[in-house]
Amino acid sequence: MADGRSAYAELERSVRAAYHLTTPASREWFERASRALVGGVSGTVRYFPPYPLYFSGGSGSRETDIDGNTYIDCFLCGACLLLGHRPPAVMAALKASVDSGSLVLNPMLATEVAESLQQMVPAAERVRLLNSGTEAVMSALRFARAFTGRSKIVKFLGTYHGQGDQMLVGLDGRGTRLGSGIPEELVSQIVLAPFGDLSVLQDLLQRGDVAGVLVDPSMHHAGLWAGTSEHYREIQRMTAEAGALLIFDEVISGFRLAPGGAQEHFGIVPDLAVFGKAFGVGERIGAVVGRSDVMAVADPTGRTRGPFAFQSGTGNDSTSALTAALTAMSTYRSLGAEGAYQRLAGLAAQLGAGLRDAFAAHGVPCQFNQLGPMVRLFLTDGPAELDHCMHLDKRAINLFHLALITEGVLTIPGSNDFFLSFAHTERDVTDIIEAAQRVLTRFDFGSIVANS
Ligand SMILES: Cc1ncc(COP(=O)(O)O)c(C=O)c1O
Repeated sequence: MADGRSAYAELERSVRAAYHLTTPASREWFERASRALVGGVSGTVRYFPPYPLYFSGGSGSRETDIDGNTYIDCFLCGACLLLGHRPPAVMAALKASVDSGSLVLNPMLATEVAESLQQMVPAAERVRLLNSGTEAVMSALRFARAFTGRSKIVKFLGTYHGQGDQMLVGLDGRGTRLGSGIPEELVSQIVLAPFGDLSVLQDLLQRGDVAGVLVDPSMHHAGLWAGTSEHYREIQRMTAEAGALLIFDEVISGFRLAPGGAQEHFGIVPDLAVFGKAFGVGERIGAVVGRSDVMAVADPTGRTRGPFAFQSGTGNDSTSALTAALTAMSTYRSLGAEGAYQRLAGLAAQLGAGLRDAFAAHGVPCQFNQLGPMVRLFLTDGPAELDHCMHLDKRAINLFHLALITEGVLTIPGSNDFFLSFAHTERDVTDIIEAAQRVLTRFDFGSIVANS
């Protein structure tokens, strides 16, 4: 029997050969793109080896690459397209808004978007709109620091909170910095805590210098190991007792777990929360929302006498982003009223169960996590728990991602997350499961997972 290394090399060779055969135009375009765009892409996670795919467009649950291959899209352009590609209501609103111009100073639309957030999101007493999830996290941290007069932020190990310098630490669950260019002085303001052991959090909070505890309630990057309502309630209690603020990063969970986000799903109202991704369904928008006394630090009028935190952005009021967000929120509200969130979570559960059966039928060990419309696959025969799954060798999962592409399914590179949108149907779920079955028949994943 082949040893682990040669089994991996053999599988990699056959999967890559199939990938090359399916995607010659992307391969060629990568050469051209790399001569202009650094690395041929507009961001680290858009690349995966041996070369990324380039797309021409999409419709509903499907996206088409420049070779003309159509995929069931479970990547959703970085989890943004919760309504699928080109959702008719959003497209119609965007078309109708074109004549208003791309930027208008203090447009009425911004107030309407903020009012809609107030109606949907429990924590949203006041709102600041900005351009992205990253900006929203950075601003929320500034507001928390200004309000409390403290500097430290608690971040849980394994979480991703955008690309602010201070946030690029501890994504791997160990505390290392992600790449170069991140000064130690900045990182030293972040206190890393294990998500599962709240006694560590309690000790850290007792130091009295923590401004905020930042939580992605979906624990998406760590592997969708979300806590229970009780867990979050306990974090909230400890945080409040220590005079710090609870900040929910809802960039992934917002509008996805419920129309009012994770705070509605788990029944926890944080002091501050941030939104992005599904908020603008692909248009560039983010938001910080929260308690009016905390948000008052960003009030430029001088009406409030407390500390003042500067926050601004040239594109904060983009017409297309505001239009898309307003229409998307109205759609989420209607979907919520129709019970569509429960239906979508049911589809994701069906997907997880079907994939589990397919892997079992081929004797390939695996674990799955599901939260709302998100499913995460781990290729391992080890225990289904955060610490084990967070530290898995990524090679098998990366090859599975590539192999699925050759069978017409696009998952999130580097994780094999299957994100469903409201455009996905039962038929799509069946097709994804059948594609996984074909991958497992064609390629010998059992040889490397058993060896990993
Ligand atoms: C939980 C979380 N927070 C923040 C961000 C940053 O959002 P953006 O990429 O829009 O800046 C992300 C992006 O993936 C995220 O997953």
